[in-house]
Amino acid sequence: MTGTALSQDHAALMDKVYRGQRHIYDFTRKYYLFGRDRLIRELDAAPGMSVLEVGCGTGRNLELIARAWPQVQCHGFDISSEMLKSARARLGPQVRLAPGDATRFDASALFGRAGFDRVVLSYTLSMIPDWQAALEQAAAALAPGGVLHAVDFGDLAGLPSPLRKGLRAWLAKFHVSPRLDLPMVAARLAGEKSLRIAVKRGPLGYYQLVQLSR
Ligand SMILES: C[S@@+](CC[C@H](N)C(=O)[O-])C[C@H]1O[C@@H](n2cnc3c(N)ncnc32)[C@H](O)[C@@H]1O
Repeated sequence: MTGTALSQDHAALMDKVYRGQRHIYDFTRKYYLFGRDRLIRELDAAPGMSVLEVGCGTGRNLELIARAWPQVQCHGFDISSEMLKSARARLGPQVRLAPGDATRFDASALFGRAGFDRVVLSYTLSMIPDWQAALEQAAAALAPGGVLHAVDFGDLAGLPSPLRKGLRAWLAKFHVSPRLDLPMVAARLAGEKSLRIAVKRGPLGYYQLVQLSR
């Protein structure tokens, strides 16, 4: 199958997952997508900086980023046109939104700029089959001095085993696969591209936060 056909298939799958879910997404996900607010607090963005969220979903993070870090220029893209409907309804015209595939995006074509001061990947890598390509593309979109912030599910090691197994099975129904080797893959990328890496682990190993600085 060609890359374009794979993208179309994945876009159709994400639309199927989120067509109904997008209406209850923000309310329900606040109970299990932990670490997103910490990522936003740690963005450390100054006025005038550019922020890109890859896989921005309903625009929840971009709204909070714009509030927490005034006068940043927010951009977001998502492969699901359904999710983008929610993001467009929520965010004003000052936030630039576009359809795009994290594994093969051209930021210049989407937004007229190639580099961003902050790039955010929030619970997106766990839904992308070729997530290593998405991470590499996101890092390539960093402007000099820029920082990529990724948050996603961790190994859940601190949870009792039945709860851990139940959560993993439930996530699989939504096509979510925790990327347990994210720190290792990010460290390899950091070595190849001369980036600095920092890895943090959320309580009970529920989430992991990875930062790559150019
Ligand atoms: C769990 S949601 C996270 C949304 C948002 N980042 C948040 O933290 O609430 C995952 C998002 O990734 C998007 N997504 C999945 N695969 C993608 C891809 N290849 N390119 C761009 N977005 C993708 C989905 O459509 C969905 O909006």
